[in-house]
Amino acid sequence: MTVSRDLPAVAPAPGRTDYAALVREDRVHRSVYTEQHIFDEEMVKVFGGRSWVYLAHESQLPEPNSFRSVRMGLRPVIVTRDRRGDLHAVFNRCSHRAATLCREESGTAKSFQCPYHGWTFRNTGELVGTPWPKGFGPSFDKSEHGLHKVARVESYRGFVFGTLNESAPSVVDWLGPAAGWLDYWVDRAPGGEVVVRSAAHRMGYRGNWKLAYDNAGDGYHPAFSHRSLLEMASRMGDAKDMAYFGRSPDEGPMRTYMLGNGHSVIDQRPNYDGPGSFWANQRPQPGREWFEEKIRAEHGADADRLLDLTIGSQINLSIFPNLLVIGNQIQVIEPLGVDRTQLTWHATTIGGVPPEVNTMRMRTQEDFPAFGEPDDQANFEEVQRGLAAPEAEWVLMNRGLDVPGWQEVGPDGVVSSTATDELHMRRYYAAWLEMMSEGTAR
Ligand code: FES
Ligand SMILES: [Fe+2]
Repeated sequence: MTVSRDLPAVAPAPGRTDYAALVREDRVHRSVYTEQHIFDEEMVKVFGGRSWVYLAHESQLPEPNSFRSVRMGLRPVIVTRDRRGDLHAVFNRCSHRAATLCREESGTAKSFQCPYHGWTFRNTGELVGTPWPKGFGPSFDKSEHGLHKVARVESYRGFVFGTLNESAPSVVDWLGPAAGWLDYWVDRAPGGEVVVRSAAHRMGYRGNWKLAYDNAGDGYHPAFSHRSLLEMASRMGDAKDMAYFGRSPDEGPMRTYMLGNGHSVIDQRPNYDGPGSFWANQRPQPGREWFEEKIRAEHGADADRLLDLTIGSQINLSIFPNLLVIGNQIQVIEPLGVDRTQLTWHATTIGGVPPEVNTMRMRTQEDFPAFGEPDDQANFEEVQRGLAAPEAEWVLMNRGLDVPGWQEVGPDGVVSSTATDELHMRRYYAAWLEMMSEGTAR
């Protein structure tokens, strides 16, 4: 028997879903949240097929031979640094009989040995060892059985992305104006040094992954969804953070900006007025009074800057499809199934500040996910339950659509609107539609 080395690529037949019928200007069909076949196609076309996907932060791969296990859609992937420190990403899937090779979340390794039958691969993917090699005949060529590689891995200001699309634009081109918002976020740290902490706040919900992405750019919900948090804060003192979402937010100074390729940002900073105001308006935090006294006593005129660094960036930046930069945190959306998703909040510290600033920063970063994220996740699960009614077919995203004066085009061509406009959903669904329609007869 001969072994064919030139097997044709076997790909699933192109989908026949008419996606354009499911995404309208003002609404989207329920099936995009509920249908298994649409989810399966997303995992190929959106998560790594055409789009870049966020994989990890460089500070999570601190030295040569560091690795980190992540997912790219449903694909298990290992992001690695080689011995020179260059970044790679390989499928965490043994070329022999498909077992995952690496079962650790992170660490350092020059190579990975499969626990099943012991095949060994370099951290750049080459197959270097098969136990008892005489059992493989002359047709076996190790160089043909390296790990499947993520075609391109690129980093922007420490954010590492991967794509399977060889001809994708560079990450910086694909980020477009979103890159400038990442710059603001990184440059808040003196010297731009941001470190993702080792532990994370993980939460799973029984709902589609896009429900989290819908919500990330939604300035309409906080007054209602997070009412208990806002009421608790006001009972505990004169705290104003987020209260502006409840006070005529349509007229407020907050804006949402459309950044292309499904990316957008809500800028909450216009609600604040100058140095020290992020700190002054934060909700109560454990140790706050002692901390403020110490920083003011020791740092005088620089105290307001340092106090503000303990508080979130006041932007909510959504990078399609799976990265949300919220406050000082990096949130990652991981689809697990059509109605199952994991959300992970990674806290960050920064260099160039007294250690107490980072301690207080961690207190701020415990605040929202602990008190607010359960509200959002309850909504995601309840939306998914509501979507089970097949006769009610449409999910609306029409707020602000034809309201005169809401949308403006800036000098840079970026469209913005009030933060309560559902423009974020309309824009990212347009990008989603384009990706999902590729290779589909329309
Ligand atoms: S599945 Fe990995 S060595 Fe067999
Ligand atoms: Fe929320």
